[in-house]
Amino acid sequence: MGKILVTGGLGYIGSHTTVELLQLGYEVVVVDNLTNTTLDVQDRILQITGKSFAFYQVDVCDTDQLMTVFEKESISGVIHFAAYKAVGESVEKPVEYYHNNVSGLISLLSCTKKHNVHSIVFSSSCTVYGDTKLSPITEEHPIVEAISPYGTTKIIGEQILKDYANFSEARVVCLRYFNPVGAHSSALIGELPLGVPSNLIPYVTQTAAGIREKLTIFGNDYNTPDGTNIRDFIHVVDLAQAHVKAIEYSPNMNMSFDVFNLGTGKGHSVTEVVEAFERVNNLKLNYAYGERRAGDVEQIWADATKAKKLLGWKTTIELDEMMRSSWAWQKQLAN
Ligand code: WQD
Repeated sequence: MGKILVTGGLGYIGSHTTVELLQLGYEVVVVDNLTNTTLDVQDRILQITGKSFAFYQVDVCDTDQLMTVFEKESISGVIHFAAYKAVGESVEKPVEYYHNNVSGLISLLSCTKKHNVHSIVFSSSCTVYGDTKLSPITEEHPIVEAISPYGTTKIIGEQILKDYANFSEARVVCLRYFNPVGAHSSALIGELPLGVPSNLIPYVTQTAAGIREKLTIFGNDYNTPDGTNIRDFIHVVDLAQAHVKAIEYSPNMNMSFDVFNLGTGKGHSVTEVVEAFERVNNLKLNYAYGERRAGDVEQIWADATKAKKLLGWKTTIELDEMMRSSWAWQKQLAN
């Protein structure tokens, strides 16, 4: 396989995927507009892998600039991460989210079409399943109206890709993430939340680091064993490895479009996760239970059997390591 283009390749999941690709001997080209990451991630990927890669500071919405990358590099496959992903922010800034996430995808597809790049892996989300009561969730679960503009951009993105693949030679794989957490074992790359984190684990680690005063667990009156929400937390390295499997699966697909849930297949409650974080890292976290957060799904976890069967992929990293690596990364950030 020729060079793999990783859009958003200096971001959280993108950087971990770039590491996995490089370590398997792939040639990687990264484009990133650096709005949600920093340039030193490039050096850290080099430090981890000992391998260099081409980097272009390009916004995927700038089709002319993106097209020059395709002209300069012989791209044979694309893993498309570049998108905004904060659910709450998308409610406040829907137009920015539709422009960046949907127009950015369309811009990319005009390049892949012009350069006959057929293998495409798309970063989607379990949010497309909406507020479901049917966990474990299979890929056959209905796609419902999303609860945020962010979720809608993922539903629209999948539909655009399905139509694009059906009328071209493209082979598209959509990966629906559950809850990505954790960091590379080197603690050199991880999640870089800008501003006040909306996601659970960055807020937990920042509370443990004293950056935040207290964690509020949003609601303990749900219809779950301990009253708190249940989620399928998946380690970012497991997630990254699924992307390598997906880009390898794409050229051999006997259909033009396929989707996979990426989760562990196990649900953990918010309280369980917080208690695991305290135990694994031998610390007490300052937290209290508060009101429910609007838009939260009560409980959702994946049925991950399809990815195991067709991609030959399953998660190997358990919750304790997710909590250990998250804290190691947070502590490293303080350096
Ligand atoms: C997890 C749980 C909160 C913060 C999001 C995106 C989804 C996907 C995964 C990309 C919930 C609780 C959180 C806090 C809390 N992303 N929580 N206190 O909402 O499950 O999903 O990430 O693909 O698209 O929506 O993740 O981390 O925000 O919340 O109690 O300070 O933690 O109520 O139950 P979520 P999250």
